[in-house]
Amino acid sequence: MFSYRGKKVLIAGGASGIGAATVKAFRDAGAEVMVFDIAFKEAREEEGLLEYPVDLSDSARLSAAYAMLKERWGTLDVLVNNAGIECVATLEETTEEAWDRVMGVNLKSVFLSCKEALPLLRASGGSIVNTASQLAFVGASSFTAYTASKAAVVNFTRSLALETAKDGVRVNCVCPGAIDTPLLRRQFEGRRGPQGTIDNLIGMHPLGRLGDPSEIAGCILFLASPLASFVTGSAMLADGGYTIQ
Ligand SMILES: NC(=O)c1ccc[n+]([C@@H]2O[C@H](COP(=O)([O-])OP(=O)(O)OC[C@H]3O[C@@H](n4cnc5c(N)ncnc54)[C@H](O)[C@@H]3O)[C@@H](O)[C@H]2O)c1
Repeated sequence: MFSYRGKKVLIAGGASGIGAATVKAFRDAGAEVMVFDIAFKEAREEEGLLEYPVDLSDSARLSAAYAMLKERWGTLDVLVNNAGIECVATLEETTEEAWDRVMGVNLKSVFLSCKEALPLLRASGGSIVNTASQLAFVGASSFTAYTASKAAVVNFTRSLALETAKDGVRVNCVCPGAIDTPLLRRQFEGRRGPQGTIDNLIGMHPLGRLGDPSEIAGCILFLASPLASFVTGSAMLADGGYTIQ
């Protein structure tokens, strides 16, 4: 549906789940893709793909990874900030360390990555897509840190879109509902039996099922593409109707 032939795309947080599906979708559409992710043990390269290990919440390591990207490519068309971690805990259970970790990965990494990428994107007229969540718009018990981080990503996206509009750089975010990924499955570990709880969650989605990572990848490809050329600062819900009830 989209052609990204000749385009250079960086996926920050692309080793698993939604990120991995997004890597595949961009590659299928012809893009050359670089992936930064803490899950990689070492750098690995194949035709049109470079996987690079980096903790995106660590500014020095992220900066070194971007230095490598600038040397290799010298340009960038699309940045997808997708890394995220879960934190299922009541306020009393949430330690200061856990709070800082969630904010570091889910929010600070987006700030750091956008800052590194902006000069390249201004030069190419490129675009940014951040992965927020439907939980940016509604509360969720035992998710204070996670929901706060994702709501912040949505408003960060809007404000940055205003800053970069004059340069033709569009900034948007996608807000998934429950998507069947390792992160989602981890959220239910040690809780009332995984299947029962996931069934409960499915019941909160009017479409009556979990989303597939490829369905979020499709939104990301759309938002980054010329088909969305008049779309900036938007938070696209792809949540099976979770937030419309
Ligand atoms: N799965 C869902 O139901 C759901 C719903 C709404 C939003 N999201 C968001 O979608 C994004 C992708 O989540 P997913 O469900 O595919 O999870 P996932 O765990 O399958 O993938 C997350 C990726 O981020 C990487 N990552 C985590 N911390 C990192 C760090 N410090 N540095 C570099 N990479 C790091 C992981 O290694 C992994 O590859 C996240 O931002 C998540 O919050 C997921």
